[in-house]
Amino acid sequence: MSIDEAELTKLYSLLDTVKDPEIGISIVKLKMISKIEKKEDTLLIGIKLTVPGCPLASTIEKDVNEALKNSGYNKIKLAFGYMTKEELAAVKKELYDNKKILPSPIEKYEKKNVKNIIAVYSAKGGVGKSSVVAMLALEANRLGYKTAVLDCDISGSSIQAIVGSQYHSYLTKDKKFEPLSLSGIKIMSIDMLTNTEALIWRGPLVSNAIKQMYSDTDWGELDLMFLDLPPGTSDGPLTVFQSIPVDKILLVTTPQNLSQLVGKKTTVIADALKIPVVGVIENMSYIICEHCGEKIDMPVDSSIKDIPLLAKLPFKKELSTNAIKSVDTGIANELDPIIINLIKN
Ligand SMILES: Nc1ncnc2c1ncn2[C@@H]1O[C@H](COP(=O)(O)OP(=O)(O)OP(=O)(O)O)[C@@H](O)[C@H]1O
Ligand SMILES: [Mg+2]
Repeated sequence: MSIDEAELTKLYSLLDTVKDPEIGISIVKLKMISKIEKKEDTLLIGIKLTVPGCPLASTIEKDVNEALKNSGYNKIKLAFGYMTKEELAAVKKELYDNKKILPSPIEKYEKKNVKNIIAVYSAKGGVGKSSVVAMLALEANRLGYKTAVLDCDISGSSIQAIVGSQYHSYLTKDKKFEPLSLSGIKIMSIDMLTNTEALIWRGPLVSNAIKQMYSDTDWGELDLMFLDLPPGTSDGPLTVFQSIPVDKILLVTTPQNLSQLVGKKTTVIADALKIPVVGVIENMSYIICEHCGEKIDMPVDSSIKDIPLLAKLPFKKELSTNAIKSVDTGIANELDPIIINLIKN
């Protein structure tokens, strides 16, 4: 049985109130509705999930029934399929183009006793975010600030390797996680809470893990908390930006990076989230010749339009195994003005 135009419009507007539980955007806007038909007195709705086997299909089913029942639709049958890669890419592109990357805010956690929460981020992977986080924390701690690191990279947690530790957290008597304390720096990462080496994390689990680490860790009072973010513009970093009350974003790039593109992506995110980007740290920017001491710059200019360049850090072979060496080698000193500025402003 065909449905006339007016009824179809009404159905779409009712379904527009149903949100994908994982992404937080309406299933109509996400173009998840593949068909609406009537067979006798039953309404048939086709829904394309964004990923195959989405465990949240039953939540969508319940929400669809809820949204339609008050308008007299009592017999509803849902048929679930899933989007092709191309369809998903088209939806993502449209959301980006319209700056609708952000779902309605998921729960924002309390700021608590942390004065400054700084997210260290790059749209590209492997540029040295985690190393820069470790250097910033080591240096901030050396300058006398109460400092912590929260490793928000759930599937690529690396902060323990970078600081050379293998620590497992335990619960304090107040049922809080005890963070690793490295010369006074408090550190928490997912591998301190799980025994599994590689876990596949889906959206809601990522939010839960981030929440547990941020909210249930015994941080005490802090001047600075550095967040080591996963790379890219996917769910992982977005969840962090949306749920943790981030004060400022520090960008990390390398000269080889497609910096303008990276800058643009970051600006879109930061604008949408209204979090200021304080500037860029260019990592692996030059080398000092071990024999003659000459400084050799990387030939590519990675400056990003409209975002101040705060520091250029050298490629140093000692840092490729352990960022702690940044203190002895004097590299971390170069971050002092940045840290002082983060505290002051
Ligand atoms: N200045 C440097 N000199 C030499 N090696 C470096 C420097 N900075 C980072 N590295 C090395 O480069 C590699 C990538 O660094 P790191 O893990 O910090 O990057 P990342 O941006 O956090 O990566 P991901 O996106 O995977 O989280 C590591 O092996 C690290 O030790
Ligand atoms: Mg990293």
